[in-house]
Formats: sequence, C-alpha cells, structure tokens
Amino acid sequence: MKAVKVSFVILVAALLAAGLGTTAFAFHSGGVAECGGCHSMHTPKAGGSFLLLGTDQSSTCLNCHLHPGDTGPTSYHIATADANMPAGTAPLQRTPGGDFGWLKKTYTFTVRGTVNTETGSSHGHNIISADYGYGVDPDFASSPGGTFPSSQLACNSCHDPHGKYRRLSTGSVATSGAPIVGSGSYDTSATPAVGQAVGVYRLLAGAGYAKGGVTFGGVPVAVAPSTYNRSESLQQTRVAYGVSTTGGQEPWGQWCGTCHGSMHSTGNYVHPVDQGLGSSISTRYSQYVSSGIMTGTFAAGQGPFLSLVPFAENTGDYTVLKSHAKNNGTALAGPGTSDQVMCLSCHRAHASGFPEMLRWQMEGEFISYVDNTGAAAWPGTDTTPGSPQFARGRLAAENQAAYYDRPVSVFGAYQRVLCNKCHAQD
Ligand code: HEC
Ligand code: HEC
Ligand code: HEC
Ligand code: HEC
Ligand code: HEC
Ligand code: HEC
Repeated sequence: MKAVKVSFVILVAALLAAGLGTTAFAFHSGGVAECGGCHSMHTPKAGGSFLLLGTDQSSTCLNCHLHPGDTGPTSYHIATADANMPAGTAPLQRTPGGDFGWLKKTYTFTVRGTVNTETGSSHGHNIISADYGYGVDPDFASSPGGTFPSSQLACNSCHDPHGKYRRLSTGSVATSGAPIVGSGSYDTSATPAVGQAVGVYRLLAGAGYAKGGVTFGGVPVAVAPSTYNRSESLQQTRVAYGVSTTGGQEPWGQWCGTCHGSMHSTGNYVHPVDQGLGSSISTRYSQYVSSGIMTGTFAAGQGPFLSLVPFAENTGDYTVLKSHAKNNGTALAGPGTSDQVMCLSCHRAHASGFPEMLRWQMEGEFISYVDNTGAAAWPGTDTTPGSPQFARGRLAAENQAAYYDRPVSVFGAYQRVLCNKCHAQD
C-alpha cells in the first residue's frame, strides 16, 4: 500500500509538472498505466499472484478506487470504505456504475409480522476482494443466464486492467494499430487523429478478451461527462450510451450477454433489449413526468431525459454522443423512435441501492409516498413508519441517496415504479 502511494504521488506530480492529462489524477490515461501502480517486482502483496499489490485483482484496483478519506462522491472512486458508511447511512459515491458499498448494506424489516431481509449481495455484482471484505455471491453459483463462475468475479472480469482496447482514427476498435493518447470515455476526450487512438469506454473488455470460460465479442459504446461522480440533487449526470456493431464494437445487451447470454436472446421470454423504442414508447418517455402526469413539462434540469431510466441512442457517432454527455442541465431531450432499451435502462453495472442492481426500488407499488403530515416523502423508517413495505428498513435519507440525492419533488407523492417512464401503466 505504501509503495502504491509513493509511486502514485510521484506519478501525479510528474504529470502535473508536465501539464499532461485532462484530469489532475490521470493514471490509466485510456490505456496501460504505470506498471508499479498495480504490480511490484520485488515486494508484491504476500499471498497474492501476478506480483500484484493486492491479495487479488479487485483488491489491487480498490487500493486506489476506494479511499478511506472520502466524505462525499470523489472523482474516480467507486466504493466507499466501511467506516464511512456506518449503519443508517448510504455509500457515498454516485457514479453511473454505482458504489460497490451497497453490497454491504443488508436491510431487515418487519411487514405484517413477517421479518424480511433484503441482502446486500443482491444489490450488485459481487466482486471478490479479500483486502476490502467483498466475498463471493451467496445466491448464484454463476451468472444467471450464462456460465461465468461467481467465484471468479472481479474488476478484471469486465475491465481490461491493461486497457489494450483502443478506438483508432478509423472508428474501429482493436488491441493495436496506434498508440493511445488518452481516455476515450469523456465529452472532453480527444478525437483520435490519424496514427493515434484513444482508450475504449471505461477500459472495458473487448473482442477476444477471455476470462472465466467466456470470451467477449466487442466493446460497448458510450461517453460520460468528464465530471460524473456527483450528487444529482440539482442536475442530472447524463451518460450518452450508444450502439455500434462495427469494428470491434457491439450493443450493450450483447456485451452483458457475454456472461448472461439467455437473458438476452429473443424468443426466450425476456424483456426486449437492444430493440428500438418505436414511436409510442419514445413519445411517452418524453411526456412522462411522474405517475399520472403526462404533460411533458419538467422542472429545470429534470427531463425529459431521466438518468434513472437511460436509453441507448441508435448511433456510434462519438461527436453526437459527446454533445449529449452533459451534467449541466442541457442535453436532456428524450429518445427518438430508433433509440433503444438496453440492460442499463433498468440495471446499473456495478451496484445500486436496490435488489437485482436495479436503478429503482421494484419491491413495492410506490417508490415515493407521504409522511404523516401528508407531504410527499421518500419512504423511510423515519418518514413513513406506518409503511414498512416501502421503507424496507432504511431511513428516508438512505433511499434518497440511492436515487442519487434527487429531492422527492421530482416525482411528488405516490410515484410508482419507473417501468412507467416507458410504459405509463400508472
Ligand atoms: C491497473 C492495474 C494494472 C496495471 C497498471 C498493470 N497491470 Fe499487469 N496485471 C494486472 C492484473 C489485475 C493482472 C492479473 C490478470 C489476470 O487475472 O488475468 C495483471 C497481469 C499481468 C501479467 C501476467 C498475465 C497477463 O495478463 O499477461 C503481466 C505480464 C503484466 N500484468 C504486466 C504488466 C506490465 C508490463 C504493466 C505496465 C506496462 C502492467 N502489467 C500494468 C493489473 C495491472
Ligand atoms: C494507482 C491507483 C490506481 C489503481 C491501482 C487503479 N486505478 Fe483505475 N483509475 C485511477 C485514476 C487516478 C483514475 C482516473 C484517471 C484516469 O483515468 O487515468 C482511474 C480511472 C479508472 C477508470 C476509468 C478510465 C476511463 O478512461 O474511463 C477505470 C475503468 C478504472 N480506473 C479501472 C481500474 C481497474 C479495473 C483497476 C484494477 C485492475 C484499476 N483501475 C486500478 C487510479 C487507479
Ligand atoms: C464477466 C461476466 C459478467 C458480465 C460481463 C456481466 N455480468 Fe452480471 N453477473 C455476473 C455474475 C457472475 C453474476 C452472479 C454473481 C452476483 O450476483 O454477484 C451476475 C449477476 C448479475 C445480476 C444479478 C445481481 C443480483 O445479485 O441480483 C444482474 C442484474 C446482472 N448481473 C446484470 C448485468 C448487466 C446489466 C451487465 C452488463 C452491464 C452484466 N451483468 C455483465 C457476471 C457478469
Ligand atoms: C460486471 C462488469 C463490471 C465489473 C465486475 C466491474 N465493472 Fe467497472 N464498469 C463496468 C461498466 C459497464 C461501466 C460503465 C457504467 C456506465 O457508464 O453506466 C463501469 C464503470 C467503471 C468506472 C467509471 C465510474 C462508474 O462507476 O461509472 C470505474 C472507475 C470502474 N468501473 C472501476 C471498476 C472497479 C475498480 C471494479 C472492481 C472493484 C469494477 N469496475 C468492476 C463494468 C464492470
Ligand atoms: C425492462 C427492465 C429490464 C431490462 C431491460 C433488463 N432487466 Fe434484468 N431484471 C429486471 C428486473 C425487474 C429484474 C428482477 C427480477 C424479475 O422481475 O425478473 C431483473 C433481474 C435480472 C437478473 C437476476 C436474475 C435472477 O435470476 O434473479 C439478471 C442477471 C439480469 N436481470 C440481467 C439482465 C441483463 C444482462 C439484461 C440485458 C441483456 C437485462 N437484465 C435487462 C429488469 C430488466
Ligand atoms: C427504456 C424503456 C423501457 C423501460 C424502462 C421498460 N420497458 Fe418494457 N418494453 C420496452 C420496449 C421498447 C418494449 C417492446 C415494444 C413493445 O412491446 O411495445 C417493451 C415491452 C414490454 C413488455 C411486453 C413484452 C412482450 O413480449 O410483449 C412488457 C410486459 C414490459 N415491457 C414490461 C416492462 C416492465 C415490467 C418494466 C420495468 C421493470 C419495463 N417494461 C421497463 C421499453 C421499456
């Protein structure tokens, strides 16, 4: 750990001195980072492998991606240290993928005399990290709808730790062809010139990347705003997800389907994914404000786009996606008819405050309710004590955190599940 810090501080200082990098803390810069950030040639972590600085792969990543000093959402951090999220408080990070800390939040509550438990492990992908107390998922031996062993699930199951996949100036993605000049994930990322490349979205695994008996077929397409880990209490963070089937890229559903194949295949009794919304659903999405309110008139910064129910734009054009990946209250138009529903319309990629890693609570008819004065409230053991089936063992503030700090006024009282953003059955 000490070795990481020292070499990292030197690295950051060097980068700053050289004036490099779009962020003050560039490390991967879209490709392979300084080897010494993850490996040590002579003093690796005892009991580990590959000369890594953590006992296992995920622990090596969490050495930097989890920080004991966090007091709120912090840049590239994607997990909250146990000490910073004691019982009754939510994890701190608000990234699009979500905070793995939710995996440690088990809630117990009594409804009509029956004790219920909502397990932390149901809140996301159980990445195994011995050093940070993350264990194997107790519920599924392998990925539902697929074969990936839960006992091998780690950061590098989905991310290439060496970031070899790159988007070339031709628009194709490959593991070689030109040097990587920086991250390709952001609205501020460079457009690769001839002879250059940028990293693929989030260093994700691409064609030929093999782990746990599965092999990926390509990388999915998206662009995030350069500041993406932040409260959405005032303004939403819009990741512009895209679709491309050319040059080593594939739609999101296929990418998730690498490990969850039959949750994706058509004719298999599953919800459509990677399928156009069509005119009725896309129109509805833009009109839908909240349960029973279909005016298409939104408070500033609140829509039509809703980051709790994102869609994939039917384009692989990074210029378009960059213009939509914003967090400043602009670029909030709803979908066009050929834009698509995808796995991430309903799920997050890492973890969420809700079962099945969903973006909203599905375990009850109302996601917002009223307190004892009749005012709209996020359900909580403090605000709606008479309705434990909606509070589900948390305080209202914990629920609000799981909705990335939105005030309940975005929906008002009696909001039903967000399937309705597309289907308006409420
Ligand atoms: C962000 C963390 C990270 C960085 C930076 C990193 N590695 Fe690795 N490396 C890993 C992980 C994790 C594994 C284990 C991969 C696995 O489980 O298959 C690994 C494995 C390896 C392996 C053995 C297996 C393989 O995948 O080929 C080699 C060799 C290697 N790294 C070399 C390097 C070199 C050289 C550098 C610097 C140019 C580097 N690594 C930078 C995380 C990193
Ligand atoms: C030495 C510290 C350090 C370690 C170890 C580390 N990271 Fe990072 N990571 C960073 C920093 C700093 C950033 C933000 C700047 C950047 O992207 O270069 C970042 C950014 C990222 C991003 C976003 C990059 C983008 O271009 O969108 C991903 C994904 C990521 N890390 C995954 C990993 C994984 C997986 C591992 C382990 C195999 C790992 N990191 C290990 C420091 C680290
Ligand atoms: C590298 C393989 C892999 C990939 C890629 C992958 N998953 Fe998973 N997923 C798993 C495994 C293994 C489990 C079971 C273990 C667990 O739940 O922690 C799982 C579980 C889940 C669960 C159930 C969580 C719970 O505990 O109820 C959901 C939902 C899910 N994945 C969605 C997705 C989505 C959406 C994507 C694409 C963004 C995705 N997965 C990509 C391996 C993968
Ligand atoms: C099941 C696949 C999967 C696993 C496992 C996984 N990631 Fe990710 N990660 C993703 C995807 C997909 C995204 C993009 C999410 C989005 O933009 O909606 C992402 C995004 C990120 C980001 C950008 C911030 C964010 O949350 O959006 C970082 C940093 C990162 N991952 C690091 C990690 C680290 C570190 C681990 C292990 C502790 C890890 N990931 C495990 C799939 C995964
Ligand atoms: C329209 C919303 C929606 C979409 C799109 C969606 N899911 Fe789900 N998913 C759910 C809901 C809701 C559940 C909870 C259980 C249920 O109702 O079947 C769930 C459950 C799961 C589970 C847990 C299964 C289990 O046995 O408990 C996995 C894994 C999963 N989804 C993966 C995916 C993947 C991968 C995709 C994309 C190929 C995807 N989902 C697309 C809404 C969705
Ligand atoms: C991002 C938009 C979107 C969201 C969110 C969404 N759906 Fe859908 N849904 C669609 C599309 C597109 C179709 C296919 C077109 C159609 O059947 O009208 C569909 C079809 C369906 C169907 C009909 C399937 C069939 O085989 O006929 C059901 C049932 C359904 N959705 C339920 C749900 C539920 C439950 C949720 C919440 C867990 C949900 N949807 C969330 C877009 C969405």
